[in-house]
Amino acid sequence: MYGMVNRALQELLVKEHGESTWHRIKEEAGVDLEEFSSMASYDDKITYDLAIAASKVLEAPLDQLLDAFGRYWVEFAQASSYAILLEQAGKDLHEILPMLNELHTRLALSFPELQPPSFEVLEDTPEHILLQYDTFRPALAPFVVGLLHGLAGMVGTPIEVDHVQAKGDEHDADVFKIRFVSA
Ligand code: HEM
Repeated sequence: MYGMVNRALQELLVKEHGESTWHRIKEEAGVDLEEFSSMASYDDKITYDLAIAASKVLEAPLDQLLDAFGRYWVEFAQASSYAILLEQAGKDLHEILPMLNELHTRLALSFPELQPPSFEVLEDTPEHILLQYDTFRPALAPFVVGLLHGLAGMVGTPIEVDHVQAKGDEHDADVFKIRFVSA
C-alpha cells in the first residue's frame, strides 16, 4: 500500500504510545526503514507486519487496533491535501458512501498504482444503510468498521455498525449494516 497508509499508522501509534514504543513495534515487525514516503508504493506485507507487531507489543487485539486505525484515518485524511475529496463526497453518509469508489478513482490520478477497495450501497433507508465491501486483501473488515465510525463522527451522526456478512466460503464480499441511532 502507499506510504501514506504506513505514515498514518505510525502517526497514530506515536501519538498514542510514544516514539520508543513505535521503535519497538518496528523492530518486532522487522521493518528497518527510517520513514515512509507518502507517494511511494510499499509491499502490503509491511503494513500487515506493523499492525500485527503493534497488536503484540501493545497486547491489544488486532481487530481493535484496525478499528482505531480506521477512525484515525478519517482524521488523518481530513488534515491531508486530499481533504477536498472527502468534502466533495457529500454532507452525510447517504451521500458519501455511494461516492467511495469515485473518491478512490480520483485518488488514482495522484497514486497510479493504487489498488483501491470496492464498495456498493445495497440498501439505503432513513434508518439504515447496507454497504458491501470487496477487496483482494484479507482481514480488513475491522478497519472498515473504524472508517465508518470515523466518517459518522466527521458528519456528526451517531451510528452503530454490524458486520452482517463476512467474506468466505459462502459469500464473496463483506456486508455492513450501518444503523442510525439517536445520540
Ligand atoms: C481523502 C480520503 C481518503 C484517502 C486519501 C484514501 C486513500 C487510500 C489509500 C492511499 C489506500 C491504499 C491503497 C493502495 O495503496 O493500494 C486506501 C485504501 C483503503 N481505503 Fe481509502 N482513502 C480515503 C478515504 C477512504 C474512506 C472514507 C474509506 C471508507 C470506508 C476508505 C476505505 C479504504 C479501505 C477499506 C482501504 C484498504 C484497502 C483494501 O480494502 O483493499 N478510504 N485508501
